[in-house]
Amino acid sequence: MGSAASTNAATGSATDTNAGTGSVGGANAGINESNSAAAAMLRAVGLTKTFRVGGGLLRAERNVHAVTDVNLEFGAGRTIGIVGESGCGKSTLGRLLLRLLQPSAGRVEFDGVDLATLTPRDLRTARRNMQIVFQDPYASLNPRMRIGRIVGEGLEVHGVATGKELREQVLELMARVGLGADAYDRYPHEFSGGQRQRVGIARALALSPRFIVADEPVSALDVSIGAQILNLLMELQDERGLAYAFISHDLRVVEHVSHEVAVMYLGRIVEIAPAPEIYAGARHPYTRALLSAVPTVDGADRKQRVILGGDVPSPLDPPGGCAFHPRCPVAVARCRSEQPQLIDDAGHATACHLVADGPLPGSGSGPQVTRRDSPPT
Ligand SMILES: Nc1ncnc2c1ncn2[C@@H]1O[C@H](COP(=O)(O)OP(=O)(O)OP(=O)(O)O)[C@@H](O)[C@H]1O
Ligand code: SF4
Ligand SMILES: [Mg+2]
Repeated sequence: MGSAASTNAATGSATDTNAGTGSVGGANAGINESNSAAAAMLRAVGLTKTFRVGGGLLRAERNVHAVTDVNLEFGAGRTIGIVGESGCGKSTLGRLLLRLLQPSAGRVEFDGVDLATLTPRDLRTARRNMQIVFQDPYASLNPRMRIGRIVGEGLEVHGVATGKELREQVLELMARVGLGADAYDRYPHEFSGGQRQRVGIARALALSPRFIVADEPVSALDVSIGAQILNLLMELQDERGLAYAFISHDLRVVEHVSHEVAVMYLGRIVEIAPAPEIYAGARHPYTRALLSAVPTVDGADRKQRVILGGDVPSPLDPPGGCAFHPRCPVAVARCRSEQPQLIDDAGHATACHLVADGPLPGSGSGPQVTRRDSPPT
């Protein structure tokens, strides 16, 4: 057996007792109901997760607003890159999309069916279509299981194949991800990080899923090994028409693999657009600050650097108004009291009062905003 999380993903059993076309939209970005519902493979509608934490003798229970009102649509052969700083809710969103977590509000539809309406048995079947690849391949592989068994576990559990047929299917999967037949009887510790991630990918592919959440799949790997894994994921997408939710804190990684990019801040999508638009013409001050911190390959300073002041606020007590206002270099008084809605403008949605009023200076050429150390008064 794999670890709890990996076993769940492979076999479709949930642990949490609470428990697309690549077109997109946020809270008010306005998914076009009639058009998108037909085209989307997986659709998240108003997805929200609040964790209750604390409680006890001296501590009151509090809410962690991990994910708030996220709308996304994933289509065959398309990738949405989901980016943001640590703790902004990326992994929680990934687990919600797979229904490994039950949302506090909102729903996930697969092929137009709300997963919450399925019986546990039907949900288990539906999960064959939805798998996950984890950041840390070592932690997600059971050290006591041989590679062949890890890759084939889902096939076995779902009764897809047994005996010789199972072995052949597993060897085929292993070959496809670049693992030799000699790996079949070996253990995870005998492999490098990159090879272990190939095992994780083979395991995710075993049940021929159509949607995969890749949660920081190359963050633990060297750049060159990570690039090989990214190429493999993209080849597999082309071959099989896979839809990916590709989670990363690294905008460079997301740029190469994504058709669209969703930028999250404190649980909400603050900007979402086709990838070229994000990289050439980010509109949200947060996205622009993140982009300005990404070094270019040739070392050129492609935009004026914006250094964000302060830490990400706690999702236990998110700031009022625009949650980004304490760090925003161009915030105005209104930002402290009024939460900006995610407004779609020809497929490029942004949640910012100033952007809603007109393009910020420097739009289309990367961040030009100058840093302001203290929030507006
Ligand atoms: N089971 C849980 N119980 C309580 N709080 C949780 C739980 N899971 C996540 N959180 C909180 O929800 C917020 C979002 O966490 P999440 O792991 O989704 O962020 P992330 O963007 O994936 O971060 P990272 O980049 O560090 O992986 C964090 O504040 C985290 O502490
Ligand atoms: S709404 Fe205000 S604080 Fe938020 S990103 Fe826009 S300008 Fe900055
Ligand atoms: Mg995470």
